[in-house]
Amino acid sequence: MNIREKSVFSKVLEKELALITLENESLSITLSNYGAMITSIIVKPQNIDVLLGCNTIDEYVNQDKYFGATIGRYANRIGNASFKLNNKIYNISPNESPNHLHGGNKGFDKKVWNYKIIDDSVIFSYFSEDMEEGYPGNLNTKVKYTLNDSNELLVEFYAKSDEDTIVNLTNHSYFNLNGENSNSVKNHIVRINSDFITEIDEKNIPTGNLTNILNTNFDFKEERSIEDALNLSETIIAKDYDHNYVLLDNKEVNASIFSPLTNIKLELSTSYPCIQFYTGSFLNNFKGKTRNYNNFSSICMEPQFAPNSINIPEFKQPILKKEEEYYEFIKYKFSI
Ligand code: GAL
Repeated sequence: MNIREKSVFSKVLEKELALITLENESLSITLSNYGAMITSIIVKPQNIDVLLGCNTIDEYVNQDKYFGATIGRYANRIGNASFKLNNKIYNISPNESPNHLHGGNKGFDKKVWNYKIIDDSVIFSYFSEDMEEGYPGNLNTKVKYTLNDSNELLVEFYAKSDEDTIVNLTNHSYFNLNGENSNSVKNHIVRINSDFITEIDEKNIPTGNLTNILNTNFDFKEERSIEDALNLSETIIAKDYDHNYVLLDNKEVNASIFSPLTNIKLELSTSYPCIQFYTGSFLNNFKGKTRNYNNFSSICMEPQFAPNSINIPEFKQPILKKEEEYYEFIKYKFSI
């Protein structure tokens, strides 16, 4: 494992930013302190980049798709951009009016993070002030990326606040294991260890009900290609996937993606209770690294507390108590 660092100038931000590459025999993974994001994952034997994204740092600064970024303070949506904590109502930025999405107008994906390199890890840190985007508490956040020689990329999320608050940090990588330059992920074989998705209303806000997905086209409990899943049943018609799966907690690996074309497999393990499975319906022909991205150009698997969970007491709660340590992780293991 070795780590290289270089700086790039953002004309838009008028700032030097860092690109840091973690490399072992098979993988070369580049990160940036802009958004504490992953910009590329190159699988060296096949020489393909399996991550969607942009070509220049300013293209990242100018986009709103959250490519590879750390999402915070709260991943996904909070209904009506408000929540109650300790009997007080907080109104947060309604950046997807009337709802709140991915941390607000300028979420953690749009922040320049500090960083340090320690041994085989890069640790990004960001201080979010009390009431930033409407959230209570001064919050110290850290995201630590570690690559090992077994092709595991471990992403660890740490946070601490001086007041009770809510936190739901994740990573928003878009994967295409055929290669970023390839059109569709419908041949990918997916497994998600789940029996239920959270039911959503027309604005994608969980209602609090769970939907049993067994034998519907959301069912990935056994490995199946996206193509096969879409043809599976007509009880629920999925045009695309943008749904939150509640994880069963009896498996070490919670989800996986495999491309029979390249033989690359990605296994995901996490401490979070849910995974947002999203195939990119908001990409809208985005001009990416080598091609235009659309629905089914990629797969995002974003571990997290359920969207809107702070407003649904039956769901696992994303509450971080004053001075307590927040710790969650995502482990991506590549088999090549
Ligand atoms: C996903 C979310 C989608 C969309 C996307 C960003 O995490 O589930 O609904 O908001 O991020 O474009």
